[in-house]
Amino acid sequence: MKTIFSGIQPSGMITLGNYIGALKQFVELQNEYNCYFCIVDQHAITVPQDAQQLRKNIRSLAALYIAVGLDPEKVTLFIQSEVPAHAQAGWMFQCISYIGELERMTQFKDKSAGKDAVSAGLLTYPPLMVADILLYKTDLVPVGEDQKQHLELTRDLAERFNKKYNDIFTIPEVRIAKVGARIMSLQDPTKKMSKSDPNQKAFISLLDEPKQIEKKIKSAVTDSEGIVKFDKENKPGVSNLLSIYSILTGKTIEELENQYEGKGYGDFKSELAQVLINEFEPIQKKYHQLMQSTELDEILDRGAARANEVASKMVKKMETAMGLGRKRK
Ligand code: TYM
Repeated sequence: MKTIFSGIQPSGMITLGNYIGALKQFVELQNEYNCYFCIVDQHAITVPQDAQQLRKNIRSLAALYIAVGLDPEKVTLFIQSEVPAHAQAGWMFQCISYIGELERMTQFKDKSAGKDAVSAGLLTYPPLMVADILLYKTDLVPVGEDQKQHLELTRDLAERFNKKYNDIFTIPEVRIAKVGARIMSLQDPTKKMSKSDPNQKAFISLLDEPKQIEKKIKSAVTDSEGIVKFDKENKPGVSNLLSIYSILTGKTIEELENQYEGKGYGDFKSELAQVLINEFEPIQKKYHQLMQSTELDEILDRGAARANEVASKMVKKMETAMGLGRKRK
């Protein structure tokens, strides 16, 4: 069985973008792969976080992973900071990364633009992500479009390490969904939907109530043409809503265009809102049950133990290859 690794930052509300670009894919893949899914809390602290809120977000994300349909008997679900091998390997990968290549990462450029105080961690975040992936001999990494560059770096660093020290890492492939790899902001459809967007109307959270979902979809930016048609260039707002609608219902874009022919955006938007509400209802129900149970802690304990076993072995291999510590029998 091939191995999958992917992670999500517990840095705010989990959005429809995370759901479509990542979580929904994970659920489909869990039966065919040996899966590791991680709550990457050490990545979240590359920008300031409120400690109490971060704790809450970690637990909430863990519950969401399961609520969307991941089976904790099948997948290994764990918190990054509970597996020290990630930070250990992250350091070793920092030492074989070049500042120049890290400065070229678009996510670094976006997140640091115009800021006075940029943490060193924001720059060296990609080598930590490389560690996450390579520690588990990962074959495949399902992510949204925005992580593509980080995956290219992962492959580069794996090859660099293998060549320079010892051939110990598997070179992973990236898996980006054909549709839905980049869900756009509802308020500015030329920008990615992001959980750190200060404008709450720009994103739909997996935990939004039906009324909020209706409101947000209703106020989603479209255009004045009044025709439901897919045209990314000229109608980015409507096209984004069409993509979401299509992914969640399995209907093709063409079918949807026909369905709404001669109708305005009103019907289209209110029916899309209903699709979202129906999709989220069982997820939210399961989420609230889990948040009140002790089951979640048991799952995370088991996950951390399993991940630690695999990842600590790889760290030893890395240390041996690089000549760290003493020779052990
Ligand atoms: P993060 O937490 O920003 O996002 C989690 C996942 O959701 C995808 N995603 C989207 N997909 C479609 N449309 C969107 N608008 C959208 N926004 C987010 C992301 O591509 C991602 O798959 N660095 C990563 C977390 C990470 C990781 C890893 C991922 C750390 N280590 C190892 C894979 C493997 C991040 O910040 O994702």
